[in-house]
Amino acid sequence: MTSTDQAAKAVRQIIGGVSAFEALYTFAALKVADYMVPGPRTAADLSHDLGVSASPLGRIMRYLAGLGVLRRVQVDGVITDGDMYELTLVGELLITHHPDSQWPMVIMRGLKPWRDALADLSTTVRRGAAPMVLEHGGIYGLLQQEPELRALFDAAMESGARQVGSALASQPELTRGAIKTIVDVAGGTGTMLRAITHANPHVKGVLVDLPESAGRAARLFATENLATRVQARAADIFSSPLPAGADAYLLSRVIHNHPRDRVLDLMRNIAHVMPNHSELWVIETPLPEQDRQMGLALDLDLVMLGLAGGRERTEEEYRALAKSAGFQFIRRATLPLDMVLMVFTRADLARNMARRRRLDTQVVTR
Ligand SMILES: C[S@@+](CC[C@H](N)C(=O)[O-])C[C@H]1O[C@@H](n2cnc3c(N)ncnc32)[C@H](O)[C@@H]1O
Repeated sequence: MTSTDQAAKAVRQIIGGVSAFEALYTFAALKVADYMVPGPRTAADLSHDLGVSASPLGRIMRYLAGLGVLRRVQVDGVITDGDMYELTLVGELLITHHPDSQWPMVIMRGLKPWRDALADLSTTVRRGAAPMVLEHGGIYGLLQQEPELRALFDAAMESGARQVGSALASQPELTRGAIKTIVDVAGGTGTMLRAITHANPHVKGVLVDLPESAGRAARLFATENLATRVQARAADIFSSPLPAGADAYLLSRVIHNHPRDRVLDLMRNIAHVMPNHSELWVIETPLPEQDRQMGLALDLDLVMLGLAGGRERTEEEYRALAKSAGFQFIRRATLPLDMVLMVFTRADLARNMARRRRLDTQVVTR
């Protein structure tokens, strides 16, 4: 095989990424995985339950077996329309009621605004900004006018937040009681705050988000008997004062949504309401330090470009951004789904604390 042949195949494989998503999306949209929970099934058999055509479904299932979403049960012999497939661990995450279901994320990525964000990238490159950003000020402007889209978006965010929640809830500052109050800035529908407060009964919290999400968060807090410890406030985080005096401020998957100037304003506003001992917790999916490493963050970066006017950054870049807003980096922790927690404190206070520690040492040694 020549290197040109290999290169040509590499191009074809990249093109095939479209088919990969469309096959996955079709499988999710028809909720096929839900019908495969009891055990292996054929496309013909499934097509009766789903009211769809057997042959196209069989071809999609064959494709998904190639991607590792399904497993063909008969391992020998020719592939036929009568083949039986079962869900792999990947396929199980497309079951709508699976506790770690990725189904809402697949459905969200198939919605028109998300499809257009990527389909319009050439326009974005030509005009320097995405049509979604120019016309709606970014996806959140559109979501405020479209409650059904908003609900699907929230469900997709919840699926990621659920996976991160327990790792976040077991961070030492929380479990050892150093953090007793936390403000979740743009906290969505409160999945992370619910995980934190359920696991740490001494913690109280306030979530701030746009009205639809804050409303859903408030209902979930009430249903889960958290309402005495956790509140949800509907407010614009860029134009309303943030709750003051908490031990920690969480900015999870928020910075990457917005342009640099807005992020700096937001971080400075947070610094303004933070008491001396308080910490800023930033969660993002950092870009790989080397461009050639493909990862979840590179995909997110294009989505941010086409949808929100934000961007992904390397960890170094997040630290530099926080430094520009007056913060000093303290520590990091890895989280599921390639996310990273970066903990900061106000740089002026960090300097004061270092000075105080030096003075204390002088007093002791004098
Ligand atoms: C990517 S989601 C992250 C949600 C949550 N922090 C998490 O990690 O699951 C970003 C959130 O920012 C909220 N948001 C965007 N602009 C906002 C604004 N101006 N004021 C308040 N919330 C905003 C959105 O409603 C959304 O819930």
